[in-house]
Amino acid sequence: MTSLTILGIESSCDDTAAAVLRGEACAADVLSSIVMGQTELHANFGGVVPEIAARAHAEKLDTAVVQALNEAQVTLDDIDAVAVTAGPGLIGGVVSGVMCAKGISLARGLPLYGVNHLAGHALTPRLTDGVTFPYLMLLVSGGHCQFLIASGPDEFKRLGGTIDDAPGEAFDKVARLIGLPQPGGPSIETLALQGDAKRFKFPRPLLDREGCDMSFSGLKTAVLRQRDALIVEDRLTAQDQADLATGFQAAVVDVLTEKTRRALAQYTDLTDTPIICVAGGVAANLAIRGSLETLASETGARFVAPPLALCTDNAAMIAYAALEQANTRIPDDLSLSARPRWPLDQHSPAMLGSGKKGAKA
Ligand code: KG4
Ligand code: ZN
Repeated sequence: MTSLTILGIESSCDDTAAAVLRGEACAADVLSSIVMGQTELHANFGGVVPEIAARAHAEKLDTAVVQALNEAQVTLDDIDAVAVTAGPGLIGGVVSGVMCAKGISLARGLPLYGVNHLAGHALTPRLTDGVTFPYLMLLVSGGHCQFLIASGPDEFKRLGGTIDDAPGEAFDKVARLIGLPQPGGPSIETLALQGDAKRFKFPRPLLDREGCDMSFSGLKTAVLRQRDALIVEDRLTAQDQADLATGFQAAVVDVLTEKTRRALAQYTDLTDTPIICVAGGVAANLAIRGSLETLASETGARFVAPPLALCTDNAAMIAYAALEQANTRIPDDLSLSARPRWPLDQHSPAMLGSGKKGAKA
């Protein structure tokens, strides 16, 4: 396989990203990775507003691309192909990215690859750690939550996932409920260190049901009820907040760990050298990471968590997915369309109600 230099573009949720990657499968260098967040634009609305996100992507994409080229010290003359997230995600944002990529492809006569955003996340452990197929992947972020067996650049089997909220979405909502700042994950993780884990025992949804499906919406409601029972004179004490944070986080840790154990049982028949990978913003949580690491060492599996900048949404992963897939598929043409829903595993049934925040498949 020859080395390729790929420009990647990502705009499926609330990060406008562009990156330049050079190399080949399992041996590529990220020459640049620009991520322009939009947190402040959505701060007053309690979540990502799709129209605001789409407009911001349209405004910032060309700047992000120019910055990515400059930082990589290349020009469009050095680029061999353009890769862009073509779904799943918020449709306006995905369309912005696809239009930008098509413009560059048409103007420069470059091959165009429409990439599944989830494939970008799922293939990242090969970019960062060179892991070999097949491996088990847990994607946990504000918009995604699913277990996948990755067997090839375009071969993913979904073992299960959330049937309602993604865990990051639950962290964000619970933070709001108990009066902590956004993003909720880091706020809850920090405060949970001061909480009493024994004070509240929240439910562990779907652990009584076989398989790897998960649910986090009822857990959030349980925190809401407990909060309402505690509020006196319109406020929670700092200790109440910390104890609620600890209790909630412990429930998420238990659910993710037990469901990973079950996913692992379905995957270990496929290999003598099992690998558990995690990606997504929630993988930053040290309690979750630590528990999964312990599970991996108990079961003799290797544990891989890419560095956070490549775990959360970025365009290097989109360029990398195209680099892997360039060998096995033909490029897209200008009829490439944006797909708000695009399950990675086309054979598994759709996950009802999943991905409310980012309309992810
Ligand atoms: O992957 P990401 O940057 O974006 C997408 O959602 O696609 O993930 C963001 C999510 C947010 O919901 C945020 O609260 C959560 O990841 N998060 C965390 C932590 N850091 C970020 N959740 C738990 N613990 C953390 N330390
Ligand atoms: Zn993502």
